[in-house]
Amino acid sequence: MTYKIAIIPGDGIGKEVMKEAIKMLDAVTLHESVEIEYDQFDWNSEYYLQHNRMMPEDGLEKLKGYDAILFGAIGDQRVPDDISVWDLIMPIRKTFQQYVNFRPAKLLKGLESPVKVRGNKPIDFVIIRENSEGEYSNVGGSMFSGEQRELAVQNTVMTKQGIEQVTEFACNYARNHDLEKITNATKSNAIIHTMKFWDQVVETVMEQHKDIAYEKYYIDALAAYFVQRPEDFKVVLASNLFGDILSDLGSAIVGGLGIAPSANINPSKDYPSMFEPVHGSAPDIAGKGIANPIAQIWSLALMFEHLGRKDIHDKILSSIEELIAGKSRLTADLDGTASTEQAGDELVKILYK
Ligand code: NAI
Ligand code: MG
Repeated sequence: MTYKIAIIPGDGIGKEVMKEAIKMLDAVTLHESVEIEYDQFDWNSEYYLQHNRMMPEDGLEKLKGYDAILFGAIGDQRVPDDISVWDLIMPIRKTFQQYVNFRPAKLLKGLESPVKVRGNKPIDFVIIRENSEGEYSNVGGSMFSGEQRELAVQNTVMTKQGIEQVTEFACNYARNHDLEKITNATKSNAIIHTMKFWDQVVETVMEQHKDIAYEKYYIDALAAYFVQRPEDFKVVLASNLFGDILSDLGSAIVGGLGIAPSANINPSKDYPSMFEPVHGSAPDIAGKGIANPIAQIWSLALMFEHLGRKDIHDKILSSIEELIAGKSRLTADLDGTASTEQAGDELVKILYK
């Protein structure tokens, strides 16, 4: 079988780190028994400035034919961030029912966490974030622009189906990976309609999975526990906004955004899933050739796992661990002096020496 991959590098360092991921993809195709065909799409802020839209009118239709999407990052100061996000990333996530955003937070060998871990236990958990509704809805509006009584309303949308399906995914993930506990991130004491509903539906689903332990924390306390005892968590289940914030915090305690991968998953596989680093286009370092390519390449590994090639995922992850342990070809965010390209070359060299 030939897998068809759509590649969208995007803006800023998205383009730089994607170059290294493609290098790895080409190397994998050359050395492994896997057939890959890929097409690149230049849908980014430059495209917007030329066409007044982030992707062509039939963009989603085009993407639908692929087995997976590999995405870099989007964001450019010449285009408002809400346009780049809502005209490109959100339509892909929502239309393709990528209702799970999967973000591992694993402290790789050779990396030191900025937080103290008790008893040398590993930090190794995943954040499963609801990715298609919740706080990131475009239901709302504003009135009385420029007047003293000006106002804005933004609605959170939570559906029974949406909460059920992401909770089911978390339970299946926990069971398949022998993880004993699910931690629910909530704020139902203050957000009394949507978050209370969230808890209620999550807990009804958990009732059917009694073999998996369940705990619930308010998001503010949980943020502190991430720093105080990150080794305690296995699977953290969160709404769209809470999961977004927790995953940057999670990445910070295991080495930073430069190495944090993510997967936007459509579990039924009716539509392509999308794999992208957690980070954005990093305008502060874009063009300098110093961005860390690991987050993008780890996202590529997650893509292979989703396509049923866990063996390739494991190989790429081992090469990342070896690169980090070797310390000599790390980028500046991991206290090294290597360029994006040198780090990317070294990863391929480690894997297929
Ligand atoms: P950011 O993730 O781009 O950068 C945050 C910080 O992390 C910066 O100091 C940056 O230099 C550093 N960093 C990020 N990735 C790195 C890497 N691979 N290697 C080394 N250092 C890295 O987030 P920020 O600054 O909030 O947003 C910048 C732009 O990116 C905005 O336009 C925003 O809307 C967009 N954005 C896009 C996302 C996406 O495409 N999914 C996600 C997050 C932000
Ligand atoms: Mg984010």
